[in-house]
Amino acid sequence: MDLSADGKEIEKIIVSQEQIQSRLKELAAQIVKDYEGRDLILIGVLKGAIMAMADLSRYLQRHVDMDWMAVTSYGAGTKSSGVVRILKDLDNDILGREVLIVEDILDTGLTLSWLTENLLSRGAKSVSVFTVLRKPDAATVKVEAKYVGFDIPSEFVVGYGLDFNQKYRNLPFIGVLAKHLYS
Ligand code: XMP
Ligand code: MG
Repeated sequence: MDLSADGKEIEKIIVSQEQIQSRLKELAAQIVKDYEGRDLILIGVLKGAIMAMADLSRYLQRHVDMDWMAVTSYGAGTKSSGVVRILKDLDNDILGREVLIVEDILDTGLTLSWLTENLLSRGAKSVSVFTVLRKPDAATVKVEAKYVGFDIPSEFVVGYGLDFNQKYRNLPFIGVLAKHLYS
């Protein structure tokens, strides 16, 4: 199987590997500055955030704790409903901690707004959001992502952690999935 953007599976690359890595470096420097003298725990949202966690954390020139959550949002089809269920909870207490959620994509914002509230309710001192991608719908909800990699159009994208039926997560770039694969 050829996973290059030849149009068979990946219609086009919208964010290249190089673009992702250089943007992550920039954002990491910003995070180091913003959290200077402060505590920092990264909470990755499984499974989409695996690549972002691995790369971003390696660009952070400071100590960080890392923990993971897996959540699922119920809803018809591929639209999230805002009703979220925890599949895997954090291993550690976050009372009084400064949390940075690491996400792959902010779409309707329902997942992230639920997660932010949930972490604050556990007594986190602060909860901020890092997302690799943001879609236009995110503008209509009140989830403020402090760190955004790229604003992208409302198309279904895969790669760099994002999947279609669990595949394509291992692509080092972000691409638009060929429509014939899902329509
Ligand atoms: P919200 O609650 O912000 O949920 O709507 C974001 C979640 O929706 C999924 N999602 C996508 N997954 N390609 C994907 O592989 C996409 O283009 C896409 N848009 C939204 C994803 O699970 C994300 O966590
Ligand atoms: Mg996700």
